[in-house]
Order: sequence, then structure tokens, then C-alpha cells
Amino acid sequence: MTPHIRPRRLRTTPAMRRLVSETRLHPGQLVWPLFVGEDSAPISSMPGVMRHDLASVEEAARKAVDAGLGGVMLFGVPDDADKDAQGTHGWLPDGMGQRAVSAVKGIVGDDLVVMVDTCLDEFTSHGHCGVLDDRGGVDNDATLALYARMAVAQAEAGAHVVSPSGMMDGQVAVIREALDAAGHTDVAILAYAAKYASAFYGPFREAVASTLQGDRRTYQQDPGNRREGVRETRLDLVEGADMVMVKPASHYLDVLADVAALSEVPVAAYQVSGEYVMIEAAAERGWIERQRAVEESVTSIARAGADIVLTYWALELAGWLK
Ligand code: PBG
Repeated sequence: MTPHIRPRRLRTTPAMRRLVSETRLHPGQLVWPLFVGEDSAPISSMPGVMRHDLASVEEAARKAVDAGLGGVMLFGVPDDADKDAQGTHGWLPDGMGQRAVSAVKGIVGDDLVVMVDTCLDEFTSHGHCGVLDDRGGVDNDATLALYARMAVAQAEAGAHVVSPSGMMDGQVAVIREALDAAGHTDVAILAYAAKYASAFYGPFREAVASTLQGDRRTYQQDPGNRREGVRETRLDLVEGADMVMVKPASHYLDVLADVAALSEVPVAAYQVSGEYVMIEAAAERGWIERQRAVEESVTSIARAGADIVLTYWALELAGWLK
């Protein structure tokens, strides 16, 4: 009854636990997603998260630098009047996303990595991530040309990283080619490699005032498909992705571990809006201990293989880590 081998020896004191810790979070690995529109407003489906106007996002960017965050991920949220079938404001030089990038870049310079979402869904009147064909389906190849223009416009505005999230086949290759042709050889691509058609994006759709009818199942992945996440990642690596991402995070840790095992480039995971609100709502009711749950959720994502975590708690979590 007296074991010689006792794993508990390494758990005896806080100092011992700290010494043997396998997963350490650091502000520099956190990326803060920020929504930017014409005016500031709270987002009712995401308590604690707001839509920023340009002045307010500049303020947020300053805080991100001070907290030592790794980066920000910007989402342009245009007024309804600026949406059309092609998502034109996605690539106009003065589209909301480009204005957000240049405002933030003007504040942070190279002190923070400025990333931006490269997808048309915020800018299309129908809410899909691409343009529609005459039968109402999302036209993959016609959409690619628009992504290329959008990525170049974002690079021109000063983005360090463009982030194609639309799950069109070939999007990374087309964007790389367009960026290089325009002289933006140093702008990196964070590819949403394995992105699933998830119910956990629900609160985000309100944040970007999504007009989507129907769903995204003809382009985003089926939640049950693990092997396919590996295939999508390999394709993005071949096409030239500088970083790859799995999304959502918490319910896809197996996919994340698979991707981390095969990727030669940094791996990111996006803790999405639904993951955020589940913890916030439970904590608000006193059913869960908020700070511990937040830390545990992000630690688990890192443990599964994410080098970089996109989380709405990035700023607050960085404060706790200091
Ligand atoms: C698509 C996009 C989505 C999210 C960010 N960009 C998903 C979607 O609407 O299908 C989700 C982010 C979140 O839920 O936090 N451009």
C-alpha cells in the first residue's frame, strides 16, 4: 500500500506546480478580435464586447500594446446602406475594414501585429462569404478574384496579416499571388484552414449585423469531419499559408491537435463568440467561477497545440497574467 512512484510529489506546492507546468500562457500569444463600424455600440449578444468607432478602436489598440498582446484581428462592420451583392466595400480603399486597419496601424505602428478578416460576409447584402451564382449558390472562383482585391486593399491600408476566412477553395494561393504582384511580399497570410459550420458563431452574426439567410454548409466544414480538417490544412500550407487556424476552438481540440502535429508553421485557434458567451452567461448566474473558467479554457486550447489564441478575453486575460 506504499507506492514508490507518486505523481503527487510534483503537485505539493505552488512553486513546484509552477516549475513543472507544461502549458504557460503569455500575453504575446493572444490576439484580440475587434469589431469596427461607423459608430460605437455595445453588442447585446456578447456582453462585455462592443462595436468600436475609429476613435474607440484606436484607444483599444493602445491598450493592446500596453498589455503586450500579440496582435489584434479587425472586422469591418459597414452600415447596411454600404452592403451590396458583391460586397464592394470589402475592397474599396475607404471601406470600413481598410479605415479600421489604417487607424489602428497609425497608433500601433509595428508594436503590435495588425491582422484583418479577409472575407466578404460583413459586406454583402445577402450575408454570404462570397458572390452568388444565378442559382443562388456561392460561386467559388468568382469570389476568389474579389478576395484578391480585398487582400491587396487591406495590405495597402497597412495590415501586417490578412486572414482569409471564407473557406473558398484556392483562396490562399490567389491572395498570395495578388499580394506579391502588388509588391506586398512581406504581408503574411493567416489562413482559416479548418473552419467548421458552427452554431457557436451565433453571437458574432449579431455583432456584424449579418444579413445571412440560410447557412454556410456548402463552404464551411461539417462539424463531424476530423480528417477533412487535416486535408484543408495541408492544402493551405501548399498554397503558401504563413500561419494556419482552427475554428471554433474548444469543441475542436482534436482537430487542433491534428493540425499542430502536421503544421510547419504557427498554429492559431479562434475561441469564438459562442464559446465566450457560454462562460460569461454561466458566470453571470454564479454557476461557474469566471476567471478560472476563462483561464482554463484558453490553457486547454494552448495545451491542444495552439501557439496563438484569438479570444475576446485577450486584454483582460493579459492583465491577469502579468
Ligand atoms: C466569417 C467569420 C465568422 C466569424 C468570424 N468571421 C463566422 C461566420 O459567420 O460564419 C465568427 C467569429 C465568432 O463567432 O466569434 N467571416
